[in-house]
Amino acid sequence: MNKFSTDEIMTKDAHLIQSFTNLDGLKQQGARTAIVAAKGAYVTDSDGNDLIDGIGGLWCVNVGHGRREIIEAITRQLETLDFYSTFYNFTHPAAAELAEKLANLAPGNLNRVYFANSGSVANDTAVRMLHHYNNRLGRPDKKKILSRIGAYHGSTHLAMAMTTPAYSDGWDTAAEGLVHHLRAPCAYREAEDMTDAEFLDTLADDMLEAIRDLGAENIAAFIAEPIMGAGGVLVAPDGYHARMRQITAEHDIKYIADEVVTAFGRLGHMFASQDVFGMVPDIINVAKGLTSGYQPLSATIISDEIYEVISQPGAMFLHGMTYSGHPAAAAAALANIDILEREKIPQNVRVTGKVFENALRGLADLDIVGEVRGSHFMMGIEFVKNKDTKQSFSDETNVGLRVAQEAQKRGLIARPLGNILILSPTLIMDVPMIERIQSVLRDSIKAATTALPT
Ligand SMILES: Cc1ncc(COP(=O)(O)O)c(C=O)c1O
Repeated sequence: MNKFSTDEIMTKDAHLIQSFTNLDGLKQQGARTAIVAAKGAYVTDSDGNDLIDGIGGLWCVNVGHGRREIIEAITRQLETLDFYSTFYNFTHPAAAELAEKLANLAPGNLNRVYFANSGSVANDTAVRMLHHYNNRLGRPDKKKILSRIGAYHGSTHLAMAMTTPAYSDGWDTAAEGLVHHLRAPCAYREAEDMTDAEFLDTLADDMLEAIRDLGAENIAAFIAEPIMGAGGVLVAPDGYHARMRQITAEHDIKYIADEVVTAFGRLGHMFASQDVFGMVPDIINVAKGLTSGYQPLSATIISDEIYEVISQPGAMFLHGMTYSGHPAAAAAALANIDILEREKIPQNVRVTGKVFENALRGLADLDIVGEVRGSHFMMGIEFVKNKDTKQSFSDETNVGLRVAQEAQKRGLIARPLGNILILSPTLIMDVPMIERIQSVLRDSIKAATTALPT
């Protein structure tokens, strides 16, 4: 129950540091929207407006808001065991059951699970484990990480070092020299006149050149999102992940799939790596949809082969988070996965997600829509000043924000990212709701276009 007026919330909010925002802008204007309640595919703001949650919280509320089953599972768990850690030789049933469940769902020999509380820490954990793995194998120099321009892997120092360099503008990188960024697999901006197959060859050559330059003996891993999310929903050409997997395997470089956004149904499967992209990585990292956001939880799911090395006699696992596998978070994940399975949400997404994708692709006729890209319930719309030349709007134009504001006036939350608008709704959309989103977006883009400075 919301006990404060919008003004009261905003006064208190002066003490809150929001994420990824212009703090000076907030100092001047205050936060724009306070969300006070949520149900199903909708949220309610502090002025009483119901809005379609077009970004699923933050690519995470996969089963929809307010699911009793999850809330009750969390409550039951807290009433039985509020907290115990998984340090030393302790465990508890919820973490153990969830670890077994994830091992059963994950592809190949990915059977060992480390829990943390965010995607950022899941990615840090994967790198720390692989560094230790190589130390144990007597390869202390095999530490560098290949990532990609356009990637987003989180905001801890290490995860940010693996993220696209643009996100560190004005900030420092702790892991100087550790990460090498490969080309972004973004055909719209990078492929020029190449066919998909030629672009794929170019990207493969880029990786091979990096391996030649850095030396495979110095590279621990390649980290990649199946579809890049916060970089602008960048979809690699067909066959990219399988090809990269083959190259990394040939050079004894581990493949970390950052499935923080793509796992648990967003692309129509529990995990995208094998079922959508036809390859089994060495590590899969998940968060977000693991609990549909009801509790903070992430998992780093590693292969038996890595586990065998880091659990050899004499090895100490010097890594731990107090809340690793927190009972309430594990209970939330188990109830969430139960809903995904029982209601066949990933299977439904293969149908409704395609309807959503096609509905958004239908906006490509609008004057400023340069490209609509993505897959199923993970979509991005890139706005351009000139469709023929792909000339971008200036940063000051804030075209994504303009469209997002028009959409919010019409009852839809979408996420602006520079010249791009991101849509990643809950996975429980039906066709009328999808049609409504399409119509709101069409009207909003037209209204923003009319209001653009000349
Ligand atoms: C692909 C990907 N990896 C990692 C993260 C970081 O997750 P968290 O915000 O939970 O730390 C995100 C967050 O958006 C993400 O999209």
